[in-house]
This record gives sequence, structure tokens and C-alpha cells, in this order.
Amino acid sequence: MTTTVETAPAATAARLHDPAVRGFASDNYSGVHPEVLAALAAANEGHQVSYGEDDYTARLQVLMEEHFGAGIECFPVFNGTGANVLSLQSLLPRWGAVICASTAHINMDENGAPERIGGTKLLQVPTTDGKLTPELIDREAWGWGDEHRAQPLAVSITQTTELGTCYTPEEVRAIADHVHAKGMKLHMDGARLANAAAHLDVPLRTFTRDAGVDILSFGGTKNGLLFGEVVVALNPGAAQGLVYLRKMNMQLASKMRFMSAQFIALLEGDLWLRSARHANAMAARLRAAVDGIDGVEPTQKTESNGVFAILPAGVADRLRESFRFYDWNEAAREVRWMCSFDTSEEDVDSFVAAIKRELAAG
Ligand SMILES: Cc1ncc(COP(=O)(O)O)c(C=O)c1O
Repeated sequence: MTTTVETAPAATAARLHDPAVRGFASDNYSGVHPEVLAALAAANEGHQVSYGEDDYTARLQVLMEEHFGAGIECFPVFNGTGANVLSLQSLLPRWGAVICASTAHINMDENGAPERIGGTKLLQVPTTDGKLTPELIDREAWGWGDEHRAQPLAVSITQTTELGTCYTPEEVRAIADHVHAKGMKLHMDGARLANAAAHLDVPLRTFTRDAGVDILSFGGTKNGLLFGEVVVALNPGAAQGLVYLRKMNMQLASKMRFMSAQFIALLEGDLWLRSARHANAMAARLRAAVDGIDGVEPTQKTESNGVFAILPAGVADRLRESFRFYDWNEAAREVRWMCSFDTSEEDVDSFVAAIKRELAAG
């Protein structure tokens, strides 16, 4: 007896949302880039070996080597929190601690996963713009050999930062040299790595591997993927046991071909850069417009796809009735506006018009 499986979609699924509605809440509010969806469909059907022994994951390794050079190792994972926890665990012994900016996603927005799941203490340093410097790192880089202090053995920086700012390659290099001279290792949370490359207008490796970063969480979700990030061991000698830690951290996908196929869609051509450039350009358009509006006080440089600003009391809540976005610092009335690969010029212009309207309404 022959069994056949119907592979064509039986019916169009019901759409439960209005696809014309877009806001400025987060770059993960957007959908999946059509080229990524097409890549998923192309990777579908037939059988492939599970757990990363598939043709797509092999191809991804080659593509990553084209971007970062030979000798790197990549590990696709489900999400950014997982990528960060895995990366930090691989750098550290049980007694290790990680120095990071207090605004770092690992510190603010991962519900303690680096500490609870990774078993890693975070030593946080306040910054004005989300960026660490050698001097700021030194506020916590001390106490080696003191059995009472968690040992600072790694530093984590975010590129672009949670405040939308961007480290130059020289700034990353200065941090890496400083960190390495003190016997520590350097992790980069690159949830928005492509936005940094677009802003700096340099290849990815210039401000990562060539600047001394040991391990990288390379983000895809915020740049048009359905899901997926890749831990890239840029200096594999610095990271231990990634292959085992990924499974222990519940980040090993059995159908890994679909994570890898999405990254192939991003990296094979210029989709990664095209999408990031577009998102950055929309943020730049928004920033240029609000710079000319009395009552809106931008708080950070716009060096990626986010704009941060202080609004007069009441304005944010009224604006949110038509456009979603988040408070960044509620007490300071500071808000965050994020643009995505699918934000249009019209979206930005309508939002700017709404800002003006709400300010005029007092
Ligand atoms: C800087 C940064 N790192 C990592 C992440 C990844 O988070 P998630 O675990 O939601 O994929 C995010 C998402 O907001 C982020 O902004």
C-alpha cells in the first residue's frame, strides 16, 4: 500500500489582524520578510538529518566564514536570550562574573536568565549612552583572587546598544585590548548587529572579529526572520563546550534546517544589509522630523533603528491610542520608537503628524 501526504495548503488560514497597522514599539513587532518566508518554503518538504547535520546548516557555516573568516564556529539557537546565556556560559567557569552596562538586555530584559539559567553573576555599570569604555569597565574589573568576590572574567557589550547608539570599530578594539590585557573575554550581544554594520558602513567582521570580540550573539529576529539567532564563536579557543551547552540550555532545534535556511536568506545576498539600512533610514527620517518639533527632546544619538525622546506629560499616552510604542524611562517621560525593515516613509510621516497634533492639543 502506498501512503501519500498532501503537501499543498488545504485552505487559506484566517487572518486575525489588520496588516496595515504598524507602530514603533519594537523591531520584533514586524512580520517575516517575504524573502525569508520563501527560503523557508524552499527548505520544506523531503527529509533532512535533524539537530544541525543538514545541508542548510552546513551552508550557513560557509556563509558565516565568508563574513567573519575561516576558523569560526556557529551554533544556531532559538532566541536572543538563549544566545546570550549560552555565549556567556561558554566563556566562564562557575565562579565567573560578567561586566555589562546596567542598561544591557542581559541585565534588564532577560528575567535573570544569565544568573538563574547561566549561573553567571552580572556586575553592572551605569552609562549615559549604553556604551561601556575601558574606564567604565574598570569600575567593576577588580578583585581577582579574592574568594569573596565573583571573579570578573568576561565583559559583554551590545551592538547596537539598547539605547540605539553604536560602538565604532576603534571603540570595540580599545575595549577588547583592555579586557584581554586583564585576562577577561569579550562577548558582543548583536541582536541588532546588521543595524550597526549599516550605520558604520563597514563589513561585519571589522567591528567584531577584527576588533577582538571572542563570541557573538548574531541576531536575526529583529531583522526580518521568523525566529532565530546564531552564536558565533569568533575565537573558538575562548569558548568551551558550546555544543553541549546549547542542548543543556534547551536551544538545540531538531529541525535546525529552518533556522539555518532563514539565515542563509539573510546572508547569501544583501538582505541583511538592505533591511537594516532601511530600518535605520526610517529612524533617521523620524529623528530629523522630531528635531524640528518644539516639545520633543531627543535623548540619544540616532545611530541605528531607534529614536529616544522625552515628551511632555500626557502626550505619550494619547499618541499610543493610534501608534504603539513603549516607555523607556517612565519617570523621566522618555519613550523609545523603533523602526523595522517594513516601516514605510508614510508610517513615519503619519506618526510625526500625530506627534504634532497631540502636542498642539496640549
Ligand atoms: C539587545 C538585545 N539583546 C537580545 C535580545 C533578544 O531577546 P529575545 O530573547 O527576545 O530573542 C533583544 C530583544 O529585545 C535585545 O534587544
